[in-house]
Amino acid sequence: MTRVSFDYLRQQPSGGSCVSQAWARVPEALGPHERRALREQLTTRLRSGEAVLIAHYYTDGDLQDLALATGGCVADSLEMARFGRDHPAQTLIVAGVRFMGETAKILSPHKRVLMPDLDATCSLDLGCPADDFARFCDQHPDRTVVVYANTSAAVKARADWMVTSACALSIVEHLKREGRKILWAPDKHLGRYIAEQTGADMLLWQGACIVHDEFKGLELELLRRAHPGAQVLVHPESPAAVVAQADVVGSTSRLLKAVVEGSADSYIVATDNGILHRMRQLAPHKTLIEAPTAGSSATCKSCAHCPWMAMNALQGVRDGLDAGRGEILLDETVRARALVCIERMLDFTARTQPSAASGLVPNIGAA
Ligand code: 13P
Ligand code: SF4
Repeated sequence: MTRVSFDYLRQQPSGGSCVSQAWARVPEALGPHERRALREQLTTRLRSGEAVLIAHYYTDGDLQDLALATGGCVADSLEMARFGRDHPAQTLIVAGVRFMGETAKILSPHKRVLMPDLDATCSLDLGCPADDFARFCDQHPDRTVVVYANTSAAVKARADWMVTSACALSIVEHLKREGRKILWAPDKHLGRYIAEQTGADMLLWQGACIVHDEFKGLELELLRRAHPGAQVLVHPESPAAVVAQADVVGSTSRLLKAVVEGSADSYIVATDNGILHRMRQLAPHKTLIEAPTAGSSATCKSCAHCPWMAMNALQGVRDGLDAGRGEILLDETVRARALVCIERMLDFTARTQPSAASGLVPNIGAA
């Protein structure tokens, strides 16, 4: 078991962040026989309809495969929310991070929502405590409050709109057309990118994802020179110098679609490397190159893998099924308030982008 502490206050003054400040508990690796036996046992139980498994692309490949083999899904955070809401199963197992489980519970209060590890959180969520955020909102009552999905239920309860990276651009465009000024939280990189693309007046909370914040612009330039034919795919939680070099900027689903449908043979991928599992499955003949997280401009070497996503394992799914461990429980007042901003997003995307994969964001400034 590995534990290191995360202190969001250390993230604030410079706006920087560091993977070494992340708190995580990585599950014990199973031996090959134990792993196979557990996969088989869970496959049988999930196929029997005991629960449905909803996994994010950044989780362990075993969990992704189990979800797909048993009628669940592997998706981005918008699709996960839609899938959980619409699926008839009364128990949802959400493999991902806490805000994903909370979103599922907010949308389906009468379902039991379990997570393989309830302590799997997110630096954006940790870096935006509800009380501090409420004070920030109180100081700017003239602004429409738009929060990223990667926040707690209490922060969502204070928001007018929730967005994910698959729909943030179109929702902010819509709000700008309505003449709204926006208060945005928590991801400063995504906020800056959306403000640049839309020209909207956006006041930004200064949070960052400890994984994407580590991608390096200078080293990416050098890597691109070494692979001149490669397309560069970037999640918009990455720094500006990285986004500026992208051929495609978008949600995890969008980046996956770019690899599957793109005409290039090779792709440099600037997002959590957990997504490579699904990319390799869907595009086995393409070459995938991880974007650099270290080099001469680096302050440390990150592994480009979210420490909290890494807390999800088959054992957690078993413990949920066996003993109901990892259940998401929410205060009903908070849940009902948080539902408003999520439903607004889901209603909007149902009208404008029936599939999250349509969150295509071609990068105008791409090299
Ligand atoms: P997506 O909404 O693109 O799945 O991203 C969620 C996330 O946490 C990215 O780091
Ligand atoms: Fe949060 Fe970053 Fe992990 Fe996504 S990758 S869950 S934004 S810490």
